[in-house]
Amino acid sequence: MPGRVISTLFLLALHCFLIAPVVAYTALSDNFLRLIPSGGDDFDIEKGKLLAPILIPRVPGTPGQVAVQKHFVDFFTNELPKWSIEWYNSTSKTPTSGNKELPFANLVFKREPPWVKEGQSNLLTLAAHYDSLITPEGFIGATDSAVPCAILMHTARYIDKFITQMHDEMSALGEGGTVAMDMGVQIILFDGEEAFKSWSATDSCYGSRALAERWENSFHPAMSLYRNPLDQISIFVLLDLLGSPDPTIPSLFLQTHWAYKAMASIEDRMRKLDLLESKPQRPFLPEMEKEPTAFRPLYIDDDHKPFITRGVPILHMIASPFPDVWHTMKDDGAHLDMPTVRDWSKIVTAFALEWLDMMEVEPVEAKGASASGP
Ligand SMILES: *[C@@H]1O[C@H](CO)[C@@H](O)[C@H](O)[C@H]1NC(C)=O
Ligand SMILES: [Zn+2]
Repeated sequence: MPGRVISTLFLLALHCFLIAPVVAYTALSDNFLRLIPSGGDDFDIEKGKLLAPILIPRVPGTPGQVAVQKHFVDFFTNELPKWSIEWYNSTSKTPTSGNKELPFANLVFKREPPWVKEGQSNLLTLAAHYDSLITPEGFIGATDSAVPCAILMHTARYIDKFITQMHDEMSALGEGGTVAMDMGVQIILFDGEEAFKSWSATDSCYGSRALAERWENSFHPAMSLYRNPLDQISIFVLLDLLGSPDPTIPSLFLQTHWAYKAMASIEDRMRKLDLLESKPQRPFLPEMEKEPTAFRPLYIDDDHKPFITRGVPILHMIASPFPDVWHTMKDDGAHLDMPTVRDWSKIVTAFALEWLDMMEVEPVEAKGASASGP
């Protein structure tokens, strides 16, 4: 892969000039964008392999919680065996559990290059919460956040073969050991995001608070490039409240606005190429041109909070205003806008491919299509 060799030399040159390492990637070609699948029937709300099993109440401490955990673990075990599975379990009392400690279990699915040592990879981190709100009874939380979980499963499934090819080619060339080479990806499915009584610092984000604290205190060997697992997160993309029609996702943080622009540009290019099904009044990500001075401290509390307060860069992909169905019985499968759901699955998948620099292993179908012409 000559492109990689050149980029290695380029990075070395940058180091010589004492410039901080940069991770640069090539935008996906139009033809690569065209190949990205939407997930189609796998998002069917009755029978869809990815989404349907999550559309049940899944409150911590109930059988629904265990059923969806099994759904995620079975999926990765059976379809994506190269991904590691880690559980991060904790317990906590809640304002409605009396003296009972409820179980919370975050799941982390991760793929790193085979050559990295512990703590050596930088990790594109994609996250969503899988628990559901305790009241109203029977609440499903389709947008909150069953759909985001299913989207991340779809993304993992599609990027997997490209990761394998990239690792194989880089191993064959003896590459690895630079920031640009040692890229991995992890998907965090959080438990216990929802409050049990009313949202507060202690009644919310049970799983994410426990995980951020644990990672902050898990030190890598001395002299590691990254101090702890939090430091390995190249960007933390949190999906929440997605699946309703006409969403608006604002750009919330100037620090990660460049990543927002990358996501927005993918949406824009996909719309121009007529690859998306939804026809919203305006783009899902309308703030590509936001000026630095326009950023206000608009902060929406969510699972990123324990991470952002520890310095992790965040891209918060949350619909704001919230969907009309938010925290009502209408947040169910029937009220999802399926074209929007499928479009999100394409956009997020393309973002992950681009971040991981997968033009290096652009499929031959994409190249062939561009060479053949009309
Ligand atoms: C975490 O809890 C789940 C059930 O909620 C269990 O299946 C799993 O084995 C536990 N893992 C660890 C490492 O304790
Ligand atoms: Zn919620």
